[in-house]
Amino acid sequence: MNIVERFSRYPQQDSSAEWYRLFRDAAEPDETEVVRALQACFRPAEDITRRTSVRATELITRVRADSGFAHAVDKLLQEYSLSSEEGIILMCLAEALMRIPDPDTADSLIRDKFSRADWDRHLGQSGSMLVNAATWGLLLTGKVTRLDQVEASAGGLFGRLVNRASEPVIRLAMQQAMKIMGSQFVLGQTMPDAIARGRAYKARGYSYSFDMLGEAAMTDEDAERYYEAYVNAIHQVGSATDTEDSVSIKLTALHPRFEASHAPLVMNELGSRLLELVRLAKSSDVALTIDAEEAARTELMLSLFTHCYTHPEIRGWGKFGLVLQCYQKRCFALAGYLESLARETGDTIPVRLVKGAYWDAEIKHAQVHGYHDYPVFTRKENTDAAYLACAERLLKSSVDGHIFPQFASHNAHAVAAVIEMAAATEGAQYEFQRLHGMGDSLYDAALDLQPHLRVRIYAPVGAHKDLLPYLVRRLLENGANSSFVHRLVDARTPVAALVQSPFDAIAGRQDYRNAAIPLPADLFCERKNSIGLNLDYTVSQEHFMLSFKEHCSRILAGDHGISTGLSGELRPVVQPAHPEMPFAEVRWASDQDVSSALAEASAAWWEWHRWPVESRATCLERLAELLEASRPELIALCVLEAGKTLPDAVDEIREAVDFCRYYAAQARQNFGPPLTLPGPTGEVNDYYLEGRGVFVCI
Ligand code: FAD
Ligand code: 2OP
Repeated sequence: MNIVERFSRYPQQDSSAEWYRLFRDAAEPDETEVVRALQACFRPAEDITRRTSVRATELITRVRADSGFAHAVDKLLQEYSLSSEEGIILMCLAEALMRIPDPDTADSLIRDKFSRADWDRHLGQSGSMLVNAATWGLLLTGKVTRLDQVEASAGGLFGRLVNRASEPVIRLAMQQAMKIMGSQFVLGQTMPDAIARGRAYKARGYSYSFDMLGEAAMTDEDAERYYEAYVNAIHQVGSATDTEDSVSIKLTALHPRFEASHAPLVMNELGSRLLELVRLAKSSDVALTIDAEEAARTELMLSLFTHCYTHPEIRGWGKFGLVLQCYQKRCFALAGYLESLARETGDTIPVRLVKGAYWDAEIKHAQVHGYHDYPVFTRKENTDAAYLACAERLLKSSVDGHIFPQFASHNAHAVAAVIEMAAATEGAQYEFQRLHGMGDSLYDAALDLQPHLRVRIYAPVGAHKDLLPYLVRRLLENGANSSFVHRLVDARTPVAALVQSPFDAIAGRQDYRNAAIPLPADLFCERKNSIGLNLDYTVSQEHFMLSFKEHCSRILAGDHGISTGLSGELRPVVQPAHPEMPFAEVRWASDQDVSSALAEASAAWWEWHRWPVESRATCLERLAELLEASRPELIALCVLEAGKTLPDAVDEIREAVDFCRYYAAQARQNFGPPLTLPGPTGEVNDYYLEGRGVFVCI
């Protein structure tokens, strides 16, 4: 029985230990298998599907009738969608300009980016003043920059002056624009500001979860600062008369090494830091939620959560929760684990159900690192369907009080589906959550229709300088043309398309993977990508470490089996970490060895050169395969002899493999058919590209 099938049985009796093992071992499940199982196990009842569609239509109609439903930023992102070149340029600039410390580099970036796109076509396309003002600015900038290039190439001074004068203005304007965008998504710079600004919504029945901006601490000092901000937030919320509000935290803010490679350190240091926060939250009775971040950190997050949740001082509190991301293919195993853990402890776990905010980053990360597969679904409908399946399950588990589901979505269909599924589940307990600056009209409409609904607003609080990663996630979320909010704002998207059930959308597919997103190994058309090694998952780490350790022991025991045939001096080989313990000897190359190697290679060169290019390319590819097949041994050598860390050693081998395949592809392309070109006297000649001959590399 696969995980999804197991998960679909309710009530099920698997222990939390079993679920944890399933979660851990299903590191990179096949997407098609998961979605097939999902389809087989979860099929919402027809009447629920129908009622969901009616309710979603009503919500959307109400939202669209509200003239203020699309914020200025929504309109900006609508006009500069991420499927347009201009949208991507704006996103890159927004992301980069806030990070670039010096004005000169920022100006170079502006010059480089702005001149490339066609800003004119956006002029006057939107009724929003911000969009038109932005377009005028961009248009002007584009023109100025182009003018500069024309003038500069002609040696003109005018263009360069215009450019120099305009870039700082543009830089300031862009930074100002970022501030305006930030103010849409941030409730306040300080907790008192935020609490004051939130009063109007509280009066309308909303509650808050305050999130202190700041994540991915790079130093312990940063982590201390963020920790203090959380402590302060808990105190402020705790001392307010209304105890409904809660606090959300990010573990990357609390430790600069919150990563699998530092698991023991993290469990020790971050484990105690987190426990302190949970203790404080419990003593102030302020609910605390751990936000979910990148998939690579999920295992560690779960261990830290379990460590604190099962701590004798915390047990029984019922207000310490975490976030479950349904775009992760392992979401079912994770949900199964949380349910069984809550059942075993007789306690409640508040679980915020989201689709996930790091999708683009997850895809890129897996591609860059050459992983076997993605941790997330590659089709949005798959994520949407997983969301509904988990929602149904969590609602059932809420009846006996073990899970308190908190549904966080700005998608009217998902909201309608939850309301309908909850109505069909007697005794279900739950709340909705939305982000500050998003989904206002949707939830206002939902509350108009059903005033008893509980809705919490996740409200970031903090300074502009800590905003960037959060802002970029919001811009990606609003700007992606597949996102619900983006399609809702686009009047051309018919309501019927917005209320389609994801189960209908995926019905009848043969392959549930998104063909437009090749697996990391197939990323390049002309060659295979080198295989990476995902050390963030315990299961792949343990598997690799077995053979790695075996090779290390063999090498350290002196069994190298390498004979170089060289004649230079014999030198000891030491581990950089233990220079006092040589573990081998290596014979260096003498001058004579170099000369004879050169002579031998030169003698062989002509024959090699005459070989068909296909055979030579195949040789290189074979070498790549052999390097990959010997990875554990080569990595052991890199670590022992060169003192590389495991990720560096993996990269070293990948680089060699990529070179082999890259040059094989280049050779096929360039050394193959001759170039036919006219000669000096008009005759036509065939030109063959060829290798440059023999080199000695030192
Ligand atoms: P939709 O438009 O229906 O869904 C968009 C989502 O679909 C994307 O974000 C992505 O997850 C998924 N998706 C898009 N394209 C694809 C694709 N090709 N293949 C597969 N999936 C795809 N996110 C976190 O990660 N951690 C958190 O702790 C967290 N906390 C949140 C708290 C609140 C209160 C809210 C409202 C959101 C939170 N989020 C968090 C963000 C949340 O993940 C996004 O808001 C959410 O994904 C958007 O989903 P939606 O249902 O509103 O919109
Ligand atoms: C994020 O920070 C809301 O936690 C979510 O993107």
